[in-house]
Amino acid sequence: MPVSKKRKKSENRQPDNSNSPTPPKPGIHRSTFTTMAGIVVALAAVGWLIFGGGSQDATIKVIVPELSAKAEKGRLTFEQNCIKCHGRNVAGSDKGPPLVDPFYKPSHHPDASFVSAINLGVRQHHWKFGSMPPQPQIKAADIPDLITYIREIQQANGVF
Ligand code: HEC
Repeated sequence: MPVSKKRKKSENRQPDNSNSPTPPKPGIHRSTFTTMAGIVVALAAVGWLIFGGGSQDATIKVIVPELSAKAEKGRLTFEQNCIKCHGRNVAGSDKGPPLVDPFYKPSHHPDASFVSAINLGVRQHHWKFGSMPPQPQIKAADIPDLITYIREIQQANGVF
């Protein structure tokens, strides 16, 4: 028979153990605990307001399509250089936006704006993550595959 494991740890709440010579102590422990718990909850709430509430975690749900060979190569470049901000599968993180977003479709952000973002960085203008630093470590020859990777994911998710 499955026995409920609930309350196993809270011995104070099980006064039915008649072997115990010491009666449960009066309310002081529980009220101290309640106060401490209240403080922890209050601190967590303040912390959330200061650190959590202000920043933006723009992670979105992304369908990952079967990638072309070019896009597979681009994925490796992305995962070495961009994933820390733009997130797994380009779905965003707490440091950068998802590029799988209608805002970044080719008619609004053509490939040239990706090249420019990589070479010159991006001044914060559309999100609240701060600016994107230039990524000079990316070889020019690797950029087309990198863009192909992002475009294929955009396309699979109905961005264009
Ligand atoms: C340190 C974090 C960081 C890294 C690393 C990073 N980005 Fe960004 N990127 C951002 C942020 C933040 C923005 C959004 C700026 C805004 O619009 O407010 C952005 C915006 C962009 C844009 C939109 C450009 C535009 O004109 O609005 C593109 C494209 C882009 N990133 C591509 C990349 C690629 C490709 C890589 C990897 C080579 C990369 N990023 C690496 C943080 C990063």
